[in-house]
Amino acid sequence: MRKNTRSVLLAALCAACAAVLWATYNYSVAADCDAGIQSVAEVAAGKVGGKGLADAHMDQWKRRNPVRSKDWVAEEKERHKIQPPADNSYLLKGEQGKGHSYGQYTELDILTWSRETEKMVVEGSRIFHSATELGSTVAVSCDMCHPDAANTHPETYPKFQAQMGRVALLRDMINWCIEHPVRGKRFEADDPKMRALEAYIFAQRKGTPLNYGKH
Ligand code: HEC
Repeated sequence: MRKNTRSVLLAALCAACAAVLWATYNYSVAADCDAGIQSVAEVAAGKVGGKGLADAHMDQWKRRNPVRSKDWVAEEKERHKIQPPADNSYLLKGEQGKGHSYGQYTELDILTWSRETEKMVVEGSRIFHSATELGSTVAVSCDMCHPDAANTHPETYPKFQAQMGRVALLRDMINWCIEHPVRGKRFEADDPKMRALEAYIFAQRKGTPLNYGKH
C-alpha cells in the first residue's frame, strides 16, 4: 500500500471513530436530560437543593429496578407498620458542625441517611412477609408466627441457644427459623436478604434497651 493511501485510510478511520464517540456522548446526555437528572455542576450551582438531588437519586434507582412498582417503599409502608429511622435534623440547627473535623452536614446528608436506611428496613419487611423471597418450600413467611417482628427479641443477642448448642447471633436465629419452620435454605451472613432482614428486625425494636444474653 502506498504511504499516501495509508494516511488517507487512517484519517478516515479516525473521523469515523470521532463520529461514533460524539453520537454516543450526545445520546447519553440526551438520555440523562430525558430522565430529568440534574448534573453535579447544576447542584453545585444551587439549581437543586438537597431534596432535589435525593429525589433524583430515588428516581434513578426506581428506573434501574423496574420489576418493582414505582412506589414500592410507600406501598410496603402502607401495608406494614414500620418504625421510622432517627430524626437527625437537629444536626442542621444551631452551632453543631462548627469545629467538627468533617465540616458541617448538609440537608442532603440528612436525607440520604434516612432514606437509604429506611429503604433497607422496608426491603427487610418485604422479605420478612414473603414466602417466595424467603425460599420457603411450604409457603410460610416469618409474619405467620412473628407479626410485625413480634417475639424476635433482637436486643437479647448474642445469647446461648440450646437448640444450637452455642452462643447465637441474631442472624443465626433468623437462619434457624428459615431452615426449620419456614423450610428454606439458610442465607449467607452477607446475603443482601439476610442484611435486610436483620435491619428490619432491629428497626422494629426501636427504643428497646439492649440486654444481651436475656432469655
Ligand atoms: C411456624 C412459626 C415460625 C415461623 C414461620 C418463624 N418463626 Fe421465628 N421462631 C419461632 C419459634 C417457635 C421460636 C422460638 C424458638 C426458640 O427460642 O427455641 C422462634 C424464634 C425466633 C427468633 C428468636 C427469638 C428470641 O426470643 O430469641 C427470631 C429472631 C426469629 N424467630 C426470626 C424469625 C424469622 C426472621 C422468620 C422468617 C424467616 C421466622 N422467625 C419464622 C417460630 C417461627
